[in-house]
Amino acid sequence: MRMRGAKRLLFALILFDGLLFGTLGAVVQTGRFADGALQAGSVMKPAEPEPEEGQEQGIKSVQKLLALTFDDGPSAECTKVLLDGLKQRGIHATFFLMGENIPGKEALVVRMKEEGHLIANHGYRHVQMTHEGEEAVAESVEKAQEMIEAITGEEPEFLRPPYGDWNEKLAERCDLTTVFWNVDSLDWKLRNVEKIVRRVKKQVRNGDIILMHDIFPESVEAALELADQLGAEGYMFVTVDELLID
Ligand code: NI
Repeated sequence: MRMRGAKRLLFALILFDGLLFGTLGAVVQTGRFADGALQAGSVMKPAEPEPEEGQEQGIKSVQKLLALTFDDGPSAECTKVLLDGLKQRGIHATFFLMGENIPGKEALVVRMKEEGHLIANHGYRHVQMTHEGEEAVAESVEKAQEMIEAITGEEPEFLRPPYGDWNEKLAERCDLTTVFWNVDSLDWKLRNVEKIVRRVKKQVRNGDIILMHDIFPESVEAALELADQLGAEGYMFVTVDELLID
């Protein structure tokens, strides 16, 4: 289940109901949706005014969520174009930054934060972490954490190991939450806007995390094209912390 966003919306709705009707009962009942019982909200409602019903219908219908994620940046030119395009569209994405690519591009990292994107860790160098030994990986991850914190004032909470290469021992040593993906755009290999867009659109489903790289012009163009096309199909773009990952 990847319903955290939906649950948050529902929780807000139920809290609103509780305030509106002043009943403790309404708040206590919220315990039921811990199991994902999305219909819980409607059961407890006394006769409601029409606009309230309409509001709930609206929220329920906006539940097609996707997360666009970008690895290996920042890249001076590509990341800038991507940030411009995302801003124009009012879309937030998640950036898994490569520590060694940050120096000289601090302003782009500041923009990511200021413009509402989620900044996450992709390690200091692009290596297969399971080949490196736990200590070396912990150092590499920590180094990237510190670089990002020095710019944004915040340490990332999420890590995507390069190639998705990860194991239990590394997980025990590292307390960041690892984030992988559901849809691999293969953008680095295809290097063709149409092919990338077609490949992603063929696979994508509600709740998916899409893997892309903001270091190729074709990837950036494809990402913005996907934002437009999938947006027109009713998808909303959120950051990975807004999706629940099991
Ligand atoms: Ni990578």
